[in-house]
Amino acid sequence: MITHIVGNRPQFIKLAPLYHELEKAGYEQNIIHSGQHYDENMSDVFFEELGIPAPCTNLLAGGGSHAQMTAKAMTGLEEVLLDGKPDLVILYGDTNTTLAGAVVAAKLCIPAAHVEAGPRVHDKANPEECNRIVTDHLADILFCPDAVSLENLRREGLGQEAHITGDIMYDTYLSIAKKASAGQAAQDEIVVMTWHRQENTADRERMESILRLVERLESRVVCPLHPRTRKCLENYGLMERAAAIPNFEIIEPVGYVEMVTLMNRAKLILTDSGGVSKESSYAGAKCLFMLELDVWEDLARDGWIHKFNPQDEGSVAEALRFASLAERVPPEERPRYYGDGHAAEKIVRALEAAKLL
Ligand code: UD1
Ligand code: UDP
Repeated sequence: MITHIVGNRPQFIKLAPLYHELEKAGYEQNIIHSGQHYDENMSDVFFEELGIPAPCTNLLAGGGSHAQMTAKAMTGLEEVLLDGKPDLVILYGDTNTTLAGAVVAAKLCIPAAHVEAGPRVHDKANPEECNRIVTDHLADILFCPDAVSLENLRREGLGQEAHITGDIMYDTYLSIAKKASAGQAAQDEIVVMTWHRQENTADRERMESILRLVERLESRVVCPLHPRTRKCLENYGLMERAAAIPNFEIIEPVGYVEMVTLMNRAKLILTDSGGVSKESSYAGAKCLFMLELDVWEDLARDGWIHKFNPQDEGSVAEALRFASLAERVPPEERPRYYGDGHAAEKIVRALEAAKLL
C-alpha cells in the first residue's frame, strides 16, 4: 500500500498526476488529508476537478499555530500509519503537513518519498524552508523539479537519494491548460495576484504597503484572495480600504481550471507563492515576487521573476518599472527549466528502480 500525505492546495495539484500514474501501473494506494486546508474552495474543488478520489481519513489539523497544527497532524498520522502499515508514504512540497509526515514516517521506519525536494531560499526565518530541510533529510528518495534543487541537495550531502524529474505541477498545468478556456483578446490582459505568505500577512504595515503597490499599478488586478489574507486584512481593519481600490478585483479562491485560465490571460503575475511564481513561466506572464527570497533561481537570473520589498520605496519603484514593461510572452520565448510535463512517469520509474514499490 502506498499512502499519499497531503493537506494543502498545492499538494492536491501535485498529487493528481502521480496518483493517476500509480493507478495506471496497478498499485494500491490511499490518501491521508491532514485538514490543513479545509474550505471547499481550498480543498474539495481540487479533488473534483483533478479526479482525485476522496481521502481515507481527514485529520482535521487545520488552524492554530505552526506547532499546534504540526503536532495535531503528527498525532493523527501516527495513529493512521500504525493502523494502515503502508509500504511507502509520499510527501509533497514544504508545508507543516509535509513536515509532520516526514517525522512520523521516519520514526515508524516507513520509507518516504519527497516530491518537490531541494528548493532552498536560504533563509530559515521562512517557515517553508525549515519544513523542506527536515523533510529532505528524513526522506529516503527525493524528486527534484529542477537542476538548482538537485545541486542544493548535493551540497547538503543528499545527492545519492536525489533524482531530477521536472516539476510535477507542470504535468497538471499541461493537462488542465487543455481544458481551461483559451486566452482572451490582448485588450483583456490583466494582472493576476495571489497573496498568502506569513511574511506578507503577519504585519499591518506590510499589508498596507502591498495595497499601496496595487493602487499604483495601472492595470486591472484580479486577486483570488487566500482565506488567511482575508482574515488578516479584516483583523487589521484594511478590508474596506482594499475593496475601495478601483483597479483591485478581490475574488474568492478559485479552482485550478479557473486559475490556469486567469494566468493564461495575464500580462503580469504579482505573487508571493512558490507555485504560482514558477507557473508564471508556463503561462507566459512575468512575475513580480513580493518577498526578498531567492525563489526559482534560474527564472530570477533570467529576469523572469523580479523579487522586491514592498516596504522599500526604491524597490517598489523598480517593481513598478518591471510591471510597466510586462507583456504576454509567446510560448516559444518562455523559459523551460522545469522538465517536460512527464514528472509523474519518471517518479514511478525511479521508485520501481529503487525497489520502493
Ligand atoms: C500553507 C503552507 C505553505 C503553503 C500554503 C499553500 C505552512 C507553514 N504553510 O500556508 O507552505 O505555501 O499552505 O497555500 O504549512 N485558512 C482558512 N481556510 C482554509 C485554509 C486556511 O480559513 O481552507 C486560514 C486559517 O485561518 C489558517 C490560515 O488560513 O490558520 C493559514 O493557513 P495555513 O495552512 O497555516 O497557511 P497557508 O498560508 O495556507
Ligand atoms: N491556485 C489555485 N487557485 C487560487 C490560487 C492558487 O488553484 O485561487 C493554485 C496555483 O495556481 C498553484 C497553487 O494553487 O498551482 C499554489 O498554491 P499556493 O499559492 O497556495 O501555495 P504555494 O505555491 O505558495 O505553496
